[in-house]
Amino acid sequence: ADALRIGIAGLGTVGASLVALLQQRKNELAVTCGRAIEIVAVSARNRNRDRGIDLTGIDWYDSPVEMASRANIDLFVELMGGANGAADESVRAALSRGLHVVTANKALLARCGVELAALAEEKGALLNFEAAVAGGIPVIKALRESLTGNHVSRIYGIMNGTCNYILTRMEKEGLSFADCLKEAQRLGYAEADPAFDIEGNDTAHKLAILTTLAFGSQIAADDIYLEGITNISIEDIRAAADLGYRIKLLGVAQLTDSGIEQRVHPTMVPLDSVIAQVDGVTNAVAIESDILGELLMVGPGAGGNATASAVLGDIADVAKSRPGAQQVPALGRPAAALEPYRRAR
Ligand code: HSE
Repeated sequence: ADALRIGIAGLGTVGASLVALLQQRKNELAVTCGRAIEIVAVSARNRNRDRGIDLTGIDWYDSPVEMASRANIDLFVELMGGANGAADESVRAALSRGLHVVTANKALLARCGVELAALAEEKGALLNFEAAVAGGIPVIKALRESLTGNHVSRIYGIMNGTCNYILTRMEKEGLSFADCLKEAQRLGYAEADPAFDIEGNDTAHKLAILTTLAFGSQIAADDIYLEGITNISIEDIRAAADLGYRIKLLGVAQLTDSGIEQRVHPTMVPLDSVIAQVDGVTNAVAIESDILGELLMVGPGAGGNATASAVLGDIADVAKSRPGAQQVPALGRPAAALEPYRRAR
């Protein structure tokens, strides 16, 4: 088969890890996928920055929209982030041309994921976004494929690596909130604007995406009750421990009699629970459903390789897909099948 030609927009922590992995494992991936995966184009803000990767022979685009609109590629990989602007425009441009899209952009999907899924379906394109939620944990695949036929009643977990890293180090080492955040930024866990992490918006974006997949409702990130970790002090953490609890930033979505309840807030979890043991940048997502019961997935939630691993899996899925074959819809069901969002008030 012909090589899968890809263009990558965004060469930050995740983009650079991805390029390195695709190059290092080129031969092995070609065998696994049944065809080569070739990076033919990249786009990023600063051409001259040293990212420790070799971009020789790859076309450079200053504009991701230009790349999405004109480059001779089969798949557009969006790793820029941001709910609006270039990320939004370039993903739409790519889908409109019928290109497949892989994105890690939770903010964009939380804002208009259903619309993008509908556009992808209309054009016969794949829209994969495993890396958008809980880094390397395959929670999107679980919801949209493995749990098909189940009725999900609740989904909750630790979905922001930066916050969990901060809370863990504050507790274990007595470090200040500010120092922990700086370290999370240095390690490439935090968002470009870390307010999204610590104020809970990033968790809300991820929760909104999971809610849509789990309950077939429209994404409604703005309707989520939101409280971040900025007011958590070491004293709070110690007081919780004295009572037998640990503080975790949880996202929770559950079916209630009045609809779907969605909230993000610091939560006291019993010290002997599994979720209390989830340390550092690790994420955990629990899904309760009627046929399977409770599924708990724990794994690396942020950072270059953890996120690139999920992106790589998404790219491989595109490489393995066959033109004309029945594809898994982006949201696990046709976008038109989504129920109108039911408010939990
Ligand atoms: N800033 C995010 C986090 C990155 O800390 O979890 C992964 O989505």
